[in-house]
This record gives sequence, C-alpha cells and structure tokens, in this order.
Amino acid sequence: MFGFNANSANGDVTKIRELPEFDDHALVSFAEDEASGLRAIIAVHRANPDVPSFGATRFWHYASDLEGVKDALRLSRLMSYKAALAGLKCGGAKGVILAPKTNGIVRKKLIEAYAARVNILGGRFVTGTDVGISQEDLDTMRRVSRNIIGFNDNSTEFTAIGVFESVKAALQEVFGSPDVAGRSFAIQGLGKVGGGLLSLLYGPAGPEAKIYVSDIDLERVERIKAKYPRVIPVAPEAIDAQEVDVFSPCALSGAINKKSIERIKAKIVAGGANNQLTDEASGDALHARKILYVPDYVANAGGLVAVFDEYQNPSYDRARVAQAAQHIPETLRKIFAESRAENITPSRIANRMAERIFNGYPVA
Ligand code: NAI
Repeated sequence: MFGFNANSANGDVTKIRELPEFDDHALVSFAEDEASGLRAIIAVHRANPDVPSFGATRFWHYASDLEGVKDALRLSRLMSYKAALAGLKCGGAKGVILAPKTNGIVRKKLIEAYAARVNILGGRFVTGTDVGISQEDLDTMRRVSRNIIGFNDNSTEFTAIGVFESVKAALQEVFGSPDVAGRSFAIQGLGKVGGGLLSLLYGPAGPEAKIYVSDIDLERVERIKAKYPRVIPVAPEAIDAQEVDVFSPCALSGAINKKSIERIKAKIVAGGANNQLTDEASGDALHARKILYVPDYVANAGGLVAVFDEYQNPSYDRARVAQAAQHIPETLRKIFAESRAENITPSRIANRMAERIFNGYPVA
C-alpha cells in the first residue's frame, strides 16, 4: 500500500492536495502491482485537450513514498512552464517509479507493468527517459506502449543549442550585441549540457576569451582540457566567483543560493541546469544586484522541443527542430523587455507568461 502522511495524523491520501507542490494538478495517479513489484506515480499538472501532456519518467530511490510524490508533482509542474514558453501546446507531466526495496524484482517485468499503466491513460500522457531510466528500459516500454519517445538521441544536443542561443540573447540584452567573441564565461558542470555548451562557445569565443570550467569529476575536467586547451579549470567551489561576463550553471539544482549570490561577479547567469534558483527570492536578489538571470526552464527547453518534434513527425529533420528551437531566444527577448519595463526579475516574468498560457487551456 502507498503510505502518505501529508500533515495528517492518519496518512489520508486526499491530503495530497494540501501539499504546496500540488498546485491544482489535473491528475495524480498511483500504480501498484504486486506481481512485478511496480510502485509508481504519474502526475499530470496541466492538460490541453488538443495535445497530450509530456514528461519523462524517473526511476529513483526516495526516503519515503511522500518524497516520491512531491518530486513527481514538482517536476510535472516545471514541465508545464517549460512547454508553455517553448511554444509547445502540451501540458506538463511526470512519471516517477519508486525503486523497489525488495530483492528478486525482475526489472523488465516492472518496466513492462509501468508501460501498461501509461497505456491506461490512452495517449494523454507521453513519456521518455529521465534519471534512472536506461535506453534498454525505454526499448522495453516501447514494446508495450506507443506513448514513449526519446529514440532520436538528439535531445541533449538541442538542450545545449538552446542554452547557447539563450546566452547570446542575454549578451544582446546586457551588452547590446549577441557576439560571444572576446566575452568571458564560467561553466559549472561539464556533462552533456555544459560540455555541449562549451563545444559551441569555444571556437566563436576566439583565442582571447577566458573560459573557466569546473566539474567535481576531475577526469572529466582533464578530458575537456585536452580537447579544449584554452579553458581554465578552477575548483568547483570557485566557479561562481569568477570575474566573467556569463556564469553558466550546468550541473545540479540550487546553484543560485544565498552564498553564491554574494559571490557572483558575472553580469549574466545563463545555464542549462534545472531549478537553479533555490527560491524566487534568489531571483529577486540577482535582479537587485543588476545581474541578468535567464530563467532555466526557458534556456534548457531545447531537449523538450526535440522530443516533441519526434512525437509529432514520423521522421527526423534537424533543420525543422532547429527552427522550432528558435522560439527560445525569441521568448527570452520578450521576457527581458517586460523585465526591463516593470523592473521585475525575469524569472517572475517567465512564470507569469507561462501561467497565462497554460491556465488558458480549455478544461480537458
Ligand atoms: P550530466 O550528468 O551529463 O552532467 C552533469 C555534470 O555536472 C557532471 O559532469 C557532474 O560531475 C557535474 N557536477 C555535479 N555537481 C557539480 C558541482 N557541484 N560542480 C561542478 N560540477 C558538478 O547531466 P546533464 O545532462 O549535462 O544535465 C545537467 C543539468 O541540465 C541538470 O540539472 C539537468 O537536469 C539539466 N537538463 C538537462 C537536459 C538534457 O537534455 N540533458 C535537459 C534539461 C535540463
């Protein structure tokens, strides 16, 4: 049995709506299958009757069932914001599979059982791979359900392209030119997104540009240094304090917090990591320090644009995806203009814009 105790003495499941993360979700469903060991949550934040709701599936160990539910709610909500401002007319959703604590579970059976539950939603929920879901899992799901995407293997490339375009839009806003030549950068995290951003920046930034990089994985830093000899590696705890034009968080969440806000010397914060702000007040604090913050879910929407394209089209066309991703810098220009006019941080403007879009969807 799912056991929740969301501020209630008896663990009443209906109290989920009292969680701050609930935010009037359109649907929160629970799957529990003894035969396979499946225990999962599928949360749909907003639903547009014309288009399914999108959100990848995560497979993770949580301290409690309630933590898994909260994560599903937070992440599906984020997807609504991301999709709305990427110009995609889908609502946000998320699947969370609670990693089993017991031994003897056959993963393939569990994944199949999950995909069968996805089918019950009749194509109104489309999902793919997030943390903890392998390509093999995805292939297993696809054999059971048609509502699985993420087979073109190009989405991360478009995430990096979207971040790069966002950096240029921010440079235009702050310095009057989108040109990266001669600008300085500090990239936190050199994985798929940070490394991808570096590959796009390195040549155009030119030989004079200073590009500081950091990763907690020192082997990765060495590999990057060998490939891009002009980068300047710094310790992970020093990356946010570099004297640069752009600080780019591309690692985990929470890069913008009370400590880092005081240390950041960049004029622009623009990166691909999800949930960079620890809270809305952090965005306000950056704004007060006249640092332009590029809302993370706008900058990193390129991957979603790519998978949405995969869902809509029978074959892959790179130019078509690139064209759709141009929505990202266009949206940013509108956000920056409103932010300037109203003297409000771009993250609050972005939230407001997205809410206007998805709250306008007709009731499904
Ligand atoms: P990744 O796992 O390939 O790379 C993350 C890198 O950050 C790793 O090299 C890791 O060692 C490093 N790292 C972790 N903590 C660090 C720290 N404190 N300081 C410096 N480096 C640190 O992950 P990926 O795919 O590049 O994702 C990065 C961020 O972008 C995540 O927040 C992810 O949620 C977000 N994102 C990724 C998308 C994608 O298409 N891959 C799409 C949208 C968002």
